[in-house]
Amino acid sequence: MTLVDWIGAWPGAVLLQRSGTIYLFVNAAHIASIGLLIGGILPLDLRLAGLIRGVPLAVIAPFLARSAAIGLGLAIVTGLWLFSVKPREYLANTAFLWKMALLALALLNIAVQHRNRHFRLALDGGTVHPSVRLVAGCSAILWLSVLVAGRWVGFL
Ligand code: HEM
Repeated sequence: MTLVDWIGAWPGAVLLQRSGTIYLFVNAAHIASIGLLIGGILPLDLRLAGLIRGVPLAVIAPFLARSAAIGLGLAIVTGLWLFSVKPREYLANTAFLWKMALLALALLNIAVQHRNRHFRLALDGGTVHPSVRLVAGCSAILWLSVLVAGRWVGFL
C-alpha cells in the first residue's frame, strides 16, 4: 500500500467519503478557518505596508497575528482532512499543486518577516522599515493567491 493509498483509506477520509453532510461541515470549517486567517493577516499586512494608517500597531498586531495563526492552523488541519478524501485526484490537479507551492512561499515569507529585527521594532510601535513594508506587501499578495488557487481547485 502506498502512502497516497493509506491517506485515502484512513478512517477520517472514509467518514467524509461516506457522508456528504460531514464533508459539508469540514468544508465549512475550512472556509471559516480561511476567514480567520485572511481576516487577521490582511489588515495587519496592509497596516505594515502603509496602506492603512492611524491605527497603533502595538495595539492591533498581537491580536491580528494570533487570530491569523489560529486560522492558519485550523486551515491546515481541515485542508489536509479534505485532501485525504481523494488524494490521488488532488495530486493530479494543477490548481492544487499551485496552491501548495504558493502556501509554501507564504509560510517562507512569514519566516523571513519574523527574522527581520525591524519587524519586532515596528510591532513595538517604532517606525516601519521599508523591508518590513515590502515583505508585508508580498504576504498580502501571497495569501490572496493561495485563496484564489484554493477556489480554482474545484474548477479543474
Ligand atoms: C495544508 C493546507 C491546505 C490543504 C491541504 C488544503 C486543501 C484543500 C482541499 C482538498 C480543498 C477542496 C477543494 C475542492 O475539491 O474543491 C480546499 C478548498 C479550499 N481551500 Fe484549502 N487547503 C489548505 C489550506 C488553505 C489555505 C491556507 C487557504 C486560503 C488562504 C485555502 C483556501 C481554500 C479555498 C478558498 C477552498 C475552496 C472552498 C470551497 O469553495 O468550497 N486552503 N482546500
